[in-house]
Amino acid sequence: MNIALLGFGTIGSGVYELINLNKGKFSGNFTDMESRKASPVITKVLERDTTKDLGDTVGKIVTHPSEILEDESIGLVIALMGGMDFEYEMIKECLKAGKHVVTANKAVISEYFEELLTLAEENGVVLRYEASVGGGIPIIGSLKEEMKINRVTEIKGILNGTTNFILSKMTEEGADFGETLALAQSIGFAEADPTADVEGYDVSRKLSILSSMAYESIIRDEDVYKRGITDVRAADIEMIGSMGYVVKYLGHSILEHKNVYTTVEPVLFKEASIMSNVNSEFNIISITGDIIGELQFYGKGAGKDATANAVVGDVLYILNIVKEQNYPKPLRLNRKLNKIGTDIF
Ligand code: NDP
Ligand code: HSE
Repeated sequence: MNIALLGFGTIGSGVYELINLNKGKFSGNFTDMESRKASPVITKVLERDTTKDLGDTVGKIVTHPSEILEDESIGLVIALMGGMDFEYEMIKECLKAGKHVVTANKAVISEYFEELLTLAEENGVVLRYEASVGGGIPIIGSLKEEMKINRVTEIKGILNGTTNFILSKMTEEGADFGETLALAQSIGFAEADPTADVEGYDVSRKLSILSSMAYESIIRDEDVYKRGITDVRAADIEMIGSMGYVVKYLGHSILEHKNVYTTVEPVLFKEASIMSNVNSEFNIISITGDIIGELQFYGKGAGKDATANAVVGDVLYILNIVKEQNYPKPLRLNRKLNKIGTDIF
């Protein structure tokens, strides 16, 4: 099965390197010979800039969506453009066209969670979004699989790498907010529009995804109370530090008497606490279930390699399913043939 990639930016190029330039050493991760032979390959990359260098590989840059949507050889699409409307339309059309989709786009997943999952199911394909929350931390899979039998009552954590990077630098070095944000952007942690990071939209989208999954009802990101970090000053951080506290940007949702309360805001933690010691682009996510108790997940919440690792994990998950279920399904074949008026039976 061929794969198409939408977007060759920070994460897209990371995924491309892992898959097509074989930085991921796929064969080493498979245990049987058959899987080794089935290493994935990205044949098309949708980009505006046709001069982007794909190296000496089979992939080529295309600029029109139809070159992917109408390509029957492409069975899986990795959506890494960011933004809202165009990526949403592309994901929707890919699912309708019978193509599996992997994305890291929390804005789209959070806004169209139910619709897209339903569409995937109706079309007999898989939609995976592990990298949409917590970068490289395997939180979606853990919530969906490992914590499946739990009734989750609380989710809290540092869910944004950019703002944690900024607050850590301000705390440790007394750094300036603007300069540190620019640095986070240049490293590739921040969203294309960093307002989403510093005003709390990015965290509220992630919280909405986790909460919707955990509480099994749609928790919309516009219903999350949010306060940004733009009015947190280095002088405040220093004063708070002198009292033994550290400022962290916390996303929190709690289920109480069938109500869900969700907040995103700067919070003070004691210097010695676990939260206070999560620094730079690292994230921590704590989930409390009625059987397992509290679980904490820690790791790189933003950045090229960690996030690309999560995306490729989803790709491999789908390829394994395809192998087991013997895709492409006859349904797709019927549709195509019916469209051109051919009765295959
Ligand atoms: P980038 O901005 O670095 O990359 C996006 C790429 O997609 C750019 O090359 C951009 O081209 C291209 N693109 C955007 N719109 C279009 C379009 N309409 N047609 C063709 N190409 C387009 O973003 P990231 O790689 O950082 O992020 C990608 C996704 O991953 C986002 O959804 C983000 O939220 C998510 N994510 C990012 C993480 C990170 O650490 N960066 C971590 C976890 C998730 P151009 O430059 O011309 O705009
Ligand atoms: N901009 C996001 C962050 C990327 O800084 O956490 C990872 O989702």
